[in-house]
Amino acid sequence: MTELKFEIRLETPADNEIIQNLHALAFGPGRFVRTASLMREGVPPVACLCHTGWLNGSLIASIKLTRVVVGSSAGLLLGPIVVHPDFASRGFGQNLIRNAIAEARDAGFRWIILVGDAPYYEKAGFTKSPRGKITFPGPVDPDRVMVMELEAGSLNGVTGQLLAPLPEPGRTE
Ligand SMILES: CC(C)(COP(=O)(O)OP(=O)(O)OC[C@H]1O[C@@H](n2cnc3c(N)ncnc32)[C@H](O)[C@@H]1OP(=O)(O)O)[C@@H](O)C(=O)NCCC(=O)NCCS
Repeated sequence: MTELKFEIRLETPADNEIIQNLHALAFGPGRFVRTASLMREGVPPVACLCHTGWLNGSLIASIKLTRVVVGSSAGLLLGPIVVHPDFASRGFGQNLIRNAIAEARDAGFRWIILVGDAPYYEKAGFTKSPRGKITFPGPVDPDRVMVMELEAGSLNGVTGQLLAPLPEPGRTE
């Protein structure tokens, strides 16, 4: 049997079409109307935190993170993350998340938020955000709001509505 070699790489523009196909496969047409997805509209993800997962030379997974703010506190929104269903449950998703956390910390980000299933993201160290502490500008199940401090105490006192920051002039990320 061929050994499966999973490799994480920085996303390049050439990967875009395959990633879009993976999103269509995993999320279907409803993907564009989810609150987290609407928030990301028009806000490019952080380029150094967009990674692809390759298995024996084929792109089979992707993860992106986008800058967000709550009041004056800046952090990251994790997602979308996708792994091709043919290669599910081999640990690639957790692998991508852990890599993203390490890279985000190295890049100086202070916290990460996401909307997702607690049992899955708790494995990577996320915890449920207290109900109503951080709200989204659209419908989101409050029990699915998960957070991680990349610096101890970085979410202390951070409360209010999550917003996508306006892109800085001249920034291409
Ligand atoms: C969610 C997703 C990224 C997980 O990727 P993966 O590579 O299969 O995940 P891992 O191999 O790291 O972990 C698999 C384990 O997590 C479990 N798991 C997967 N999705 C889960 C979920 N939503 N809730 C709870 N557990 C989940 C699996 O059952 C499996 O459990 P096991 O190890 O006991 O068999 C992948 O299934 C996917 O792309 N799903 C569709 C897109 C999606 O929902 N993305 C997340 C929201 S942005």
